[in-house]
Amino acid sequence: MTDEESCIRMEKVSYNVGGRTILTDFDLLLEQGVNRTILGVSGSGKTTILKLILGLIKPQTGMISINGLEITGKPESEYREQRKKIAIVFQGGALFDSMTVGENVGYRLFEEGRLSQAEIEEIVREKLRFVGVEPALDLYPAELSGGMKKRVAIARALAADPEYIFFDEPTTGLDPIGVYNIISLMNRLQEAGKTTLMVTHDLPTAFATSLRFSLIHESRLAFEGTEEELRNSPLPNVQEFLQPSEKSLFV
Ligand SMILES: Nc1ncnc2c1ncn2[C@@H]1O[C@H](COP(=O)(O)OP(=O)(O)OP(=O)(O)O)[C@@H](O)[C@H]1O
Ligand SMILES: [Mg+2]
Repeated sequence: MTDEESCIRMEKVSYNVGGRTILTDFDLLLEQGVNRTILGVSGSGKTTILKLILGLIKPQTGMISINGLEITGKPESEYREQRKKIAIVFQGGALFDSMTVGENVGYRLFEEGRLSQAEIEEIVREKLRFVGVEPALDLYPAELSGGMKKRVAIARALAADPEYIFFDEPTTGLDPIGVYNIISLMNRLQEAGKTTLMVTHDLPTAFATSLRFSLIHESRLAFEGTEEELRNSPLPNVQEFLQPSEKSLFV
């Protein structure tokens, strides 16, 4: 039995925009401690799913809940506490170019105004240490490599001490060492009790960081299960995703 107080759930969520169907009757269960990856080709709706859970966009039909509280149909003010339990590392990092690394990581905490400058600095340093870029504290994003930017974006997500961390294609564009760093960071976060939800088409990273997998295809949930179930799935859409063949060219 799923403990509704410690999971994020989507039920039969449909989302259309600009006359296009992006999601149809999409179901998702993210239980605390059961790290998940959503797989799908470019443009299949992966980022859309994360935005829906964060309440940045609203579905036309269906239900979304965070730790047992339904957020669909409610203003953000009614689920702010639940929303705060989620942090996201955006595709591309989305750092503020005009702020230093330290200011980027501490930005949220400054905005909230609950902690003193010294307390915030301590948290910022701790998070940057965790991701291994503390020496970059006073640098600007333009002075960082792609891999460092991703790690700073992760430190920023950690600053608010979330329960769930969403990763939107965290390894795209990184070299093998950068990918390895992200995988080991995600594993350390999981060991520290955080639950990760990643969207990606990078299968090795997905298998190295997740227990369960959802595959989205043509706006629908095409598969949900473990790595073994995914690899052994007889579904043509699953096999096509795992091992693209000439058939998949130009379609
Ligand atoms: N505001 C919008 N108006 C029209 N179409 C949109 C809008 N937002 C998203 N889309 C379309 O919805 C589809 C899904 O977008 P989404 O960003 O969720 O895909 P994705 O799976 O994250 O892709 P990628 O792997 O390239 O990041 C895309 O085809 C995109 O063009
Ligand atoms: Mg995306």
